[in-house]
Amino acid sequence: MIITSPTHEQPKSGPRPINLNRDVPQVLKLLEVVFSGTLDVEGQRMLSNSARASEGSSFLWRLNPAAGKLALGFVWEEHGRIVGNVTVLTTKVPGRYLVVNMAVHPEYRRQGIARLLMAQVQKMVQQRHGRQILLQVVKENAPAIALYKSLGFVTLGSMTAWHSSVARLRPIEPTPDMPVPRIRELRGHEWQKAFALDRMCLHPDLNWPEVLPPDVYKTTLWGRFANFVNGRRAESWVTDDENNQLTGLLHIASEWAQAHTTLIRVQPARQGQLTRPLVAKMVRRLQQMPRRNVRIEHPDHDELMNDLLRTANFTPRRTLTHMRLDLDI
Ligand SMILES: CC(C)(COP(=O)(O)OP(=O)(O)OC[C@H]1O[C@@H](n2cnc3c(N)ncnc32)[C@H](O)[C@@H]1OP(=O)(O)O)[C@@H](O)C(=O)NCCC(=O)NCCS
Repeated sequence: MIITSPTHEQPKSGPRPINLNRDVPQVLKLLEVVFSGTLDVEGQRMLSNSARASEGSSFLWRLNPAAGKLALGFVWEEHGRIVGNVTVLTTKVPGRYLVVNMAVHPEYRRQGIARLLMAQVQKMVQQRHGRQILLQVVKENAPAIALYKSLGFVTLGSMTAWHSSVARLRPIEPTPDMPVPRIRELRGHEWQKAFALDRMCLHPDLNWPEVLPPDVYKTTLWGRFANFVNGRRAESWVTDDENNQLTGLLHIASEWAQAHTTLIRVQPARQGQLTRPLVAKMVRRLQQMPRRNVRIEHPDHDELMNDLLRTANFTPRRTLTHMRLDLDI
């Protein structure tokens, strides 16, 4: 007599590439557990809606464009349960990859799961001849920063996201006895100079997720027409020196039903003279625009700017540290 016993598939533990047909509901649930405390209200709602929507059918979820963003990445499975995830995004620059959604379930931390998931990421990027892996991490997130540093990532700098609304803004008064610089509109042919100033003031990798395109300050006739049709507008204001070199830049972009987004760049040697007048100008311009929310991102170490933004009634939302790993090819 032959006795056969049922064979049980060995429960699997360890990292593997994400399988979009099966894993998305569990991954979203994991991201909800891990990140719900750190996201703002809007982010929490988006994630929990996505997690709920995905419970119905993995197949239908596969068709959702948001699922595409998870397509490249790894999960850690522990006896059929997904307890770790990391997502890799490609960028327009060949060889430049981003890491997002690094998450390990609280019950499984400090067991080396994140380190091994990141090792998978590094291997995959190297196989694709990638040169750089970049990521953003909340500045106060000591465990994650320790993890990335231990893997060889270096810190590039930190950017604070400030928020306000046109209705809340307070004017910035000029400093008595300080000459007020002339602030004029950027001329059409000066777009390369504006780009050069931006690049000089901000590390190119602090621009997230893509590097700043060289023609970002270029306005063509066609561009103006497209903006008009899409309810978008953008304006750039500059200061210059006696040699016609741009020394300061203020850019405000507006899109229908979206927050106004602005940026200020000042040559490091001129910050004391120009930052205040440019912030004052920004507030004056915004106060003439539709009453919407306003967002600005700025390097967190710029104390003068931080003071001025607080005075203008902006609130810091969060500071993200940017890190980069350069790979040997
Ligand atoms: C950050 C996180 C992914 C780490 O996952 P993990 O699986 O526990 O990490 P590992 O066990 O692989 O740890 C690897 C290294 O990271 C560092 N590290 C991890 N957790 C740490 C902690 N709580 N305190 C200090 N260092 C820590 C250590 O250097 C550790 O190496 P060691 O154990 O040899 O000392 C996890 O804590 C997490 O999911 N946090 C919430 C989500 C998050 O912050 N994600 C990062 C977004 S950018």
